[in-house]
Amino acid sequence: MTTQFDPQALAEHYAKATPQEILSLALEHFDDLWLSFSGADDIVVLDMAWKLNKDIKVFTLDTGRLHPETYQFLQHVREHYGIKLEVLSPDHLALQKYVSEKGLFDFYQSGHGECCGIRKIEPLRRKLSGVEAWITGQRRDQSPGTRSHVPVIEQDQAFGNDANPLIKFNPLANYSSEEVWTYIRMLEVPYNTLHERGFASIGCEPCTRPTLPNQHEREGRWWWEEATQKECGLHAGNLIAKN
Ligand code: ADX
Ligand code: SF4
Repeated sequence: MTTQFDPQALAEHYAKATPQEILSLALEHFDDLWLSFSGADDIVVLDMAWKLNKDIKVFTLDTGRLHPETYQFLQHVREHYGIKLEVLSPDHLALQKYVSEKGLFDFYQSGHGECCGIRKIEPLRRKLSGVEAWITGQRRDQSPGTRSHVPVIEQDQAFGNDANPLIKFNPLANYSSEEVWTYIRMLEVPYNTLHERGFASIGCEPCTRPTLPNQHEREGRWWWEEATQKECGLHAGNLIAKN
């Protein structure tokens, strides 16, 4: 971190700022700054950040269970933007033990916690342990049950601590799905072709399904679980702290 950075004060100051203003602040203050890209409509935050700085550092969590369309899109994004796109994999021994003992679809019986823990949370924790700040594509409108208070800037309490503070930027927090899609169409930004088949929110293939007209996008994720459980832990620690 360069000079003092007060996330709470800046979150208030930037509460109504544009995503680009929030991204500019992040880029100005942090060299060790990473954008976490899922391969879905968070392409908007990647596009905005890349237009501000072509050297933006981006990583994705390859759970091993993404749709073929998402893998194709990730490759397309690498080539389109000319970025390296760091691909993070789960710990192979932990994964091997888990799938050998519990099978390949245990999450339908036991809930998604253990699988997400191995395939997403542990690799993310590993990555963020040496990072000063990260950027996500989280939006408040993605999940009224769990994300309605997401601030534009926060101190990450889930992956950081007092000894190793971690700042989390959510530049799209105030953006609506409509604004995201207006941006994609107006600026002809590439997008995951699953969106053409009714997938509003995109995660892993076995845990994501298309939504019907007027169904909330979050209903397409972990649909066999309660709405309040529909967080895999990438953001849950901070969300719980806020609620
Ligand atoms: S999740 O927690 O339910 O999986 P969601 O799909 O809404 O998250 O995406 C919100 C933000 O979390 C994304 O914009 C991205 O910053 C981050 N994210 C989610 N999944 C991944 C992934 N597989 N790789 C990298 N970042 C991700
Ligand atoms: Fe496993 Fe589903 Fe979580 Fe992906 S979303 S890590 S497949 S439980």
